Amino acid sequence: MAKATLLFIAVLVAAASCLLPVSKAQSNMSIFSNYFNSIWSGNLVSSNPNGEIWYLALTNATGCGFQSNNKYIFGWFSMKLKLVGGNSAGVVTTYYMCSENGAGPTRDELDFEFLGNVTGQPYILQTNVFKDGIGGREMRHFLWFDPTEDFHDYSILWNNHQIVFFVDKVAIRIYQNTNYTNNFFPNAKAMYQFASIWNGDSWATEGGQIKTNWANAPFVSSYTNYNVSGCLWQDPSPACLSTTTLNWWDQSPAWQLSAAQLEDYHWAQRNFCVYYYCTDTARYPTPPPECSVNPFP
Ligand SMILES: *[C@@H]1O[C@H](CO)[C@@H](O)[C@H](O)[C@H]1NC(C)=O
Ligand SMILES: *[C@@H]1O[C@H](CO)[C@@H](O)[C@H](O)[C@H]1NC(C)=O
Ligand SMILES: *[C@@H]1O[C@H](CO)[C@@H](O)[C@H](O)[C@H]1NC(C)=O
Ligand SMILES: *[C@@H]1O[C@H](CO)[C@@H](O)[C@H](O)[C@H]1NC(C)=O
Ligand SMILES: *[C@@H]1O[C@H](CO)[C@@H](O)[C@H](O)[C@H]1NC(C)=O
Repeated sequence: MAKATLLFIAVLVAAASCLLPVSKAQSNMSIFSNYFNSIWSGNLVSSNPNGEIWYLALTNATGCGFQSNNKYIFGWFSMKLKLVGGNSAGVVTTYYMCSENGAGPTRDELDFEFLGNVTGQPYILQTNVFKDGIGGREMRHFLWFDPTEDFHDYSILWNNHQIVFFVDKVAIRIYQNTNYTNNFFPNAKAMYQFASIWNGDSWATEGGQIKTNWANAPFVSSYTNYNVSGCLWQDPSPACLSTTTLNWWDQSPAWQLSAAQLEDYHWAQRNFCVYYYCTDTARYPTPPPECSVNPFP
C-alpha cells in the first residue's frame, strides 16, 4: 500500500479514537495499523479496504516488511498467514520476534521462516532461536496442509520456562529453559513482532539449487488476525515482568505442554520434522546444552 494510504488509515483511526476511548480503539486487533507500521519498502506493503489483511510483495527490486509498535517480554503471539502460491521457489516469508530492528550482535530472536518451493512441492517451515546474536538452533518441518490455499495460525508461547512454536494450535517445537548457568534461553530482552518477504534463493529451496523465477513476480504473502496477549514493555521494566501468576501464559499450566499437546507434538515430529540441529552431529559433535532438555522424540 502507498504510504499515503497508510497515512489515510492512520487518520481514520485517529478520528475514530476521538469518539471512542483510546484503549477501546487500540484494542481492535483486527486493524493492523493499530499495531504495526511498514519499515521497509512501504510501497510494497498493501492492505484490504478495512485494514484487516496486509499483503507483503517481493519484486525483482526488493522485498518489504512491517514491525509492531510495541515490544513485549513473554506472552502469546499469534498471526495467520497465507503464503505465496504457485512457483514460490527462492521466496522466504517470515513472521518473527526480535529484540531490535536489525541483525545486531546482541539481539534475541524467535523465527518462523517459510521457504517457498516450485509449484506442487512442499514449503518448509524453519524455526530458529537466537540469544545475544547467536542462532544456529534451526528446526525444519513440512506442513500437513497447503499453506498457500488458506490462512493458518502460527503462534509463539513464550514464558521463562519454555518457548513453544505452534501451527494451528499443534505444538511443532518446544524449546525449554535448561536453567543452567550457561543457559541459551532468551528471557532478558523484550521483543517486537516483525513480518517480511525477501529473496532467499541463495539457500532457501533445495539448499539454493532452485532460483527465484522473476517471471512470476510480484510474489505476495498475506497476514491477518494478529493476536497478542503479553507483558507490554514499558521502560525501565514493566510491572508484569516480576509476576508469574497474573496471566495465563505465565501460569504453571503454560510451563510445559499438556498431555494432549505432547501427543500432537510427537505426531508432528514423527511425520513432518525434516531437520533438528540437536541431532546434527556433523554440525554439533557435542550437542548444545539445551538439547538435553529438548530431546527429539
Ligand atoms: C474491529 O474492526 C473490524 C474491521 O473494521 C470490524 O469488522 C469489527 O467490528 C471491529 N471490532 C470491534 C470490537 O470494534
Ligand atoms: C524487473 O521487473 C521489471 C518488470 O517486470 C522489468 O521491467 C525489469 O527489467 C526487471 N529488472 C531486472 C533487473 O530483472
Ligand atoms: C530454576 O531452578 C531453580 C532452583 O532449582 C527453581 O527455583 C526455578 O523455578 C527454576 N526456574 C525455571 C524457569 O525452571
Ligand atoms: C521442495 O521440494 C523438494 C522436492 O520435493 C524437497 O526436497 C524440498 O525439501 C522442498 N522444500 C524446499 C524448501 O526446498
Ligand atoms: C487470542 O488468543 C487467545 C489465546 O489462544 C484466545 O483465547 C483468544 O480467543 C484469541 N482471540 C482472538 C480474537 O482470536
